[in-house]
Amino acid sequence: MRAPADAVSRVETLRRQIHHHNYRYYVLDEPEIPDAEYDRLMRELQAIEAQYPELVTADSPTQRVGAEPLDAFAEVVHRVPMLSLENALDEAEMRAFDRRVRERLQSEAITYVGEPKLDGLAISLTYEEGVLRQAATRGDGRRGEDVTAQVRTIRSVPLRLEEEDWPALLEVRGEVFLPKAGFEAINARARDEGGKTFANPRNAAAGSLRQLDPRITAERPLDMFCYGFGAVEGGALADTQRGSLALIKRWGLRISPELKVLEGVDDCIGYHREIAARRDTLDYDIDGVVFKVNGLADQEALGFVSRAPRWAIAFKFPPQEEVTRLLDIQVQVGRTGALTPVARLEPVQVAGVSVTNATLHNGDEIRRKDIRIGDTVIVRRAGDVIPQVVGVIKERRPSDAREFEMPTRCPVCGSEVVRVEGEAASRCTGGLFCPAQRKETIKHFASRRALDIEGLGEELVEQLVDRGLVKDPADLYALTHEQIAGLERMGGKSAENLLTALERSSSTTFARFIYALGIREVGETNARALAAHFKTLEALVSVRKNDLVIPERGIEGIGSKKAKAIVDFFFDHPNLSVEGEFADWICGLQLRPKLNRRNCVAIADRFETLDGLRAATAEDLRYEKDVGVVEGIGATIADQIVGFFAEPHNREVISKLVDPEHAGIHWAETKTEAAVPTDHPFVGKTIVITGTLSRPRERIKEELQALGAKVTVSISKKTDYLLAGEDPGSKLDKARALGVRVLSEEELATLLDRS
Ligand code: IVH
Repeated sequence: MRAPADAVSRVETLRRQIHHHNYRYYVLDEPEIPDAEYDRLMRELQAIEAQYPELVTADSPTQRVGAEPLDAFAEVVHRVPMLSLENALDEAEMRAFDRRVRERLQSEAITYVGEPKLDGLAISLTYEEGVLRQAATRGDGRRGEDVTAQVRTIRSVPLRLEEEDWPALLEVRGEVFLPKAGFEAINARARDEGGKTFANPRNAAAGSLRQLDPRITAERPLDMFCYGFGAVEGGALADTQRGSLALIKRWGLRISPELKVLEGVDDCIGYHREIAARRDTLDYDIDGVVFKVNGLADQEALGFVSRAPRWAIAFKFPPQEEVTRLLDIQVQVGRTGALTPVARLEPVQVAGVSVTNATLHNGDEIRRKDIRIGDTVIVRRAGDVIPQVVGVIKERRPSDAREFEMPTRCPVCGSEVVRVEGEAASRCTGGLFCPAQRKETIKHFASRRALDIEGLGEELVEQLVDRGLVKDPADLYALTHEQIAGLERMGGKSAENLLTALERSSSTTFARFIYALGIREVGETNARALAAHFKTLEALVSVRKNDLVIPERGIEGIGSKKAKAIVDFFFDHPNLSVEGEFADWICGLQLRPKLNRRNCVAIADRFETLDGLRAATAEDLRYEKDVGVVEGIGATIADQIVGFFAEPHNREVISKLVDPEHAGIHWAETKTEAAVPTDHPFVGKTIVITGTLSRPRERIKEELQALGAKVTVSISKKTDYLLAGEDPGSKLDKARALGVRVLSEEELATLLDRS
């Protein structure tokens, strides 16, 4: 059948578009459209080419694996090409894959291994005689880029393999990715600094890895899970995929903690469901599950088609990014007056949920991304994070698209809107005069993690504020039965319940009370730390900046390396005595790194005697500015806290809140203090946490801290315990080498129970 003219021209258009998007994606790391949209273009092209094979050309994007590598990195020719995967989009396609495999292998049931498909970028690691020699990106599959210097900064990639039984030449392949938390942190920082944000963790991972300056890469918390192999010479792997991955795990590489051996396709489908259900709780973005035939001989027998192995498949999840139209931009006023532009969208299904609103963060962000009302935009929804507009498809901009302007007056109260220097947000200056800020303040005060006033929901707060019954949180406690019962949808019973809830809320904890005040930048963790530190409301209310941050500490010119060298030196040499002048004597010590004369004089002046110096900790030595006194609270938050309590109106509300004649809010002596038995085994102990645990690490950390333990990140001689979860990595080895006691999660639970 001859191809009709419209098919010919459609094929050309599609190729041009796909080529353009390949370049944006692979070379610039700046995709313009979501993967789902790209896949649609590709599938359409494949479908037309399948119908009219004479239209297939050698340079059609369907015939290639990827795109050109960047010029700036040295080129690497892969010893074994890096392939891609065939996709299955639903159960039927997954079953069809399994049927093909069984037919080819003439087998009843196949053993597969399943693991999440990470949304990062593929990297090949070459180890020669156990030493990492090269790391390369996939590039076009045959030639990639040399990113050895960058990959060496990834903590979980061993520079030298463990054990001795590895092949002399071993190429391991895996996915480099950025955990979600790291992605959010990098974007939040970029937004604060007015820099470029990344659309999703994959772009952020690619952008971080393809930094010509590896020092920038080192600042990004990249990680890598390995899932396969390239060239293997002078040694062998196991007979199975699972066995071979177990080997590389033993050699010190990370593999997916979710890896599972599965019998037959039904098992695979069950596993796919299970991982889909847990997708949001994983620390990293995944876009499906990869299934591989477990037997390596079977893999070999199955072989490859042009760009993908016949023994593996990616069973995808619904995409987390979709395309829709931006109908309008409205402005919301938050608790602290910050104006947030919110996108009103033509409803679109993203990963199974209908999305109609998405945050646009702030005015700068809209300008930087050049988002206009009427545009076709890319919306991303991942887990419980608020949906975001991550970009625009400019090619589809209508001629009447309108630019957004941040209002100069608050849309709720009409007060002036200002931009504070160095801040990205525009703010309403109305304070508690602004009904929006007032409502948000009260909602926050009543919320579950704050004073937890049951039944005081959004709708009720709206009414209370609109009718002028409540101006600040203290007014809540002066409400009468009559006033509440007079509100819409509030019968006598509901009024009674609310009064009981208010009464109950007045007995709380100091930490909750601090959090409920809604001090800018002070979240629950900060509130807990403040409660533990200040212990009484009087002390907190009269806080000064110097109580929260020490302007300078340590000795100028001493960084963390030198500080550590000094502390370690005196630990290793307990029987020294000073000869001659103190500063000269210090200069004569075998310290590495060596201290210059100025450092030695400064140390001698500060500590005066050997005993004084011996007692110094690394913190006493290392030079730091604006050192926080309370865990997690630095100069910026300190300013907010001090500013909040300096405000007479805030002090007034606080007085009313704790006045027994008024709201009568009270709490027992700071819980954290009272709850810590001084003889608890963890009091004063330093604990490091590593590996994958059954509960969020942050929660375990808080529990340990509440028991008086200090939780730090790196293992040293001073570490008392290492709490090791699944796949603990290098920390476990270090702990063993230093004789640090290692606890499993169960052992920890037993210790916690006993106390
Ligand atoms: S196996 C020959 N396993 O998906 C087999 N790939 O679409 C090649 N990916 O380029 C890949 N997680 O970057 C495999 N567990 C996993 C994966 C995975 C993510 C990526 C990889 C590859 C792409 C293929």
